[in-house]
Amino acid sequence: MSEQPAPVLEIESLSAGYGRFDVVRDVALTVGKGEAVALLGPNGAGKTTVLHAIMGLVRQRRGLIRVGGTDVSALPPHRIARGLAAIAPEGRRLFLDQSVEDNLVLGALHLRRDRARVERLLGSVYEIFPVLKAYRHRLSSFLSGGEQQMVAIGRMLMSDPQVMLLDEPSVALSPVAVDIVVKAMLELRRRGASLLLVEQRIDVATRVCDRLYVMTHGEIVDKLTPDMVRSGGMSILNKYLG
Ligand SMILES: Nc1ncnc2c1ncn2[C@@H]1O[C@H](COP(=O)(O)OP(=O)(O)OP(=O)(O)O)[C@@H](O)[C@H]1O
Ligand SMILES: [Mg+2]
Repeated sequence: MSEQPAPVLEIESLSAGYGRFDVVRDVALTVGKGEAVALLGPNGAGKTTVLHAIMGLVRQRRGLIRVGGTDVSALPPHRIARGLAAIAPEGRRLFLDQSVEDNLVLGALHLRRDRARVERLLGSVYEIFPVLKAYRHRLSSFLSGGEQQMVAIGRMLMSDPQVMLLDEPSVALSPVAVDIVVKAMLELRRRGASLLLVEQRIDVATRVCDRLYVMTHGEIVDKLTPDMVRSGGMSILNKYLG
């Protein structure tokens, strides 16, 4: 593997779960500045739990999570969401009775006193997703699945985070919409964003990411590059992903 950039996300020996049960165990993972890293795995592997631990939504039992050098383990979710990490969650979780722009601005709640910065961030979301500018006053419930995913990604951008977490953004989308989402992630990379992408679609992960982690039953079981997948690692992945 090539030399890696300075990490913006560092996870060491993470164990986390619900109740008394550890769903993820001894997870170690890094995302470098400007890097895109995938976390692949089948249903129930623990991928979302890792993202929720980063956001402070699932308490970690052991281990260390640092974002931009800050230990986030003891921080409440609203502090982590203030420019450290942001998530485009599984299922998008939009306020469907609110307009597109209202949903976007919700991502920048902690910046609301800095109107100029919020306007700049909105401008960059509309550059990446021009259709959202055209629909900015529409109720989110009127958007297609792909357009709703764009709003979820845009809302994540609005908090101007150090690391962006995307939880299965391709799920339940048409091939055309998947392509739009992939191109948006590539555009985020071009603009210097650092991404952790949870995916079940290997083709999406290999198009977007520099490195891939494979997770099954709550543990990281392999690390691959897109080249390794293309030159035969696919059969390894199929074994893991079923
Ligand atoms: N709130 C919760 N309370 C108890 N158990 C949970 C909770 N959320 C998830 N789990 C369990 O934790 C395990 C891992 O779930 P997680 O959602 O992290 O998996 P995932 O890899 O994201 O799966 P998927 O691809 O289906 O989204 C599963 O066995 C799940 O049932
Ligand atoms: Mg999940």
